[in-house]
Amino acid sequence: MAKKTVRDIEITGKRVLVRVDFNVPIENGKVTDDTRIKEALPTIRYLRENKAKIILISHLGRPKGKINEKYRLTPVAQRLQELLGVTVLKIDDCLGDKPAAAVKAMQPGEVILLENVRFYPEEEKNDPAFAQKLSLLADVYVNDAFGAVHRAHASTEGVAHFLPAVMGFLMEKEVKALTKILTVPERPFAAILGGAKVSDKIGVVKNLLGKVDVLLVGGGLANTFLKAQGYEVGKSPVEEDKIKTAGEIFALAKSRGVKIILPVDVVVVSEGEAADKIKIVKVDEIPADGQIFDLGPESIKIFKEVLQGAKTVFWNGPLGVFEQKVFAEGTLAIARAIAEDNLTSVVGGGDTLAAVSKAGVAQKITHLSTGGGASLEFLEGKVLPGLAALTDAAK
Ligand code: 3PG
Repeated sequence: MAKKTVRDIEITGKRVLVRVDFNVPIENGKVTDDTRIKEALPTIRYLRENKAKIILISHLGRPKGKINEKYRLTPVAQRLQELLGVTVLKIDDCLGDKPAAAVKAMQPGEVILLENVRFYPEEEKNDPAFAQKLSLLADVYVNDAFGAVHRAHASTEGVAHFLPAVMGFLMEKEVKALTKILTVPERPFAAILGGAKVSDKIGVVKNLLGKVDVLLVGGGLANTFLKAQGYEVGKSPVEEDKIKTAGEIFALAKSRGVKIILPVDVVVVSEGEAADKIKIVKVDEIPADGQIFDLGPESIKIFKEVLQGAKTVFWNGPLGVFEQKVFAEGTLAIARAIAEDNLTSVVGGGDTLAAVSKAGVAQKITHLSTGGGASLEFLEGKVLPGLAALTDAAK
């Protein structure tokens, strides 16, 4: 069901509580990747232009319901202020006298950022009383936190039951891009899945097998799939309890006419050897003491050929340990291969976005999703609580 957006609601002079996902990396008090902050700017700017009073709320990290100095949003407020070019008042709390007084004193167009909402244990419990208290700060609720839309928390879901609740522009953009590839992708449609674990990806793989024409599997994920095909993968991590599931996925793919493509050669390092002592071996020759760290050149060639024939690509999860130069070739080559003008490319997940940036092709990707888990759950076909709770467009 389509949801109302911030365009569909009266906001002038109103207090608007905006849930953003400012869960960004911070080092030495500085934001090191401000993509999620930048992506929230269109909604904030629109609200400012329309003279709303903007109360931003976000989580940062996983402080588990306790105040933790490491997870304060102060550096985020500083970065947002630089990007927005107006004062962003940071309040060191979400509820109580300070936020109430600050909101009361707000003029239209002003922006405040509340403290990390996960400092409250009630947030992750989706405590209704807590959600209601949050709602009292505002007249309207806007959810622009796509990255947290799969969480049924008080600030992402609960509060939507107490206020008129609509999508922000980032949420709208994400939902549109992912809906498009899920429902009317231009074909052939290829999905590339990598990353460490099969267990994180089972749901999405199963759902995508009903949508894609070809599935390319790399990274740690491929180890378990290779094992299910009868290959020995040496010392590479395998999820033994998921080998059977991987086998079932092959059977499902076959019944649906979807090709699953695994690496045919890999970069390995023998246990105890230095990282630069790499060997390139075929997947049926992986030494017993070898660990897989990247795609081999023949696999890269095959993956690239498949991608050259595709019209739509979804990618989540690196295909090797790309943080180390010696193991980066597979991941970076695939990033470059999907950065083509005639291809609709959707990339999700923090590591995968970092890989695309590292390859210098971020500008050429059709849609960079700010949600890792959220985009996977969307493509799994799951109901996203933060979206479901918003007001239907028809109402
Ligand atoms: C993310 O970074 O994926 C989102 O901000 C959600 O964070 P979480 O996994 O801690 O809920």
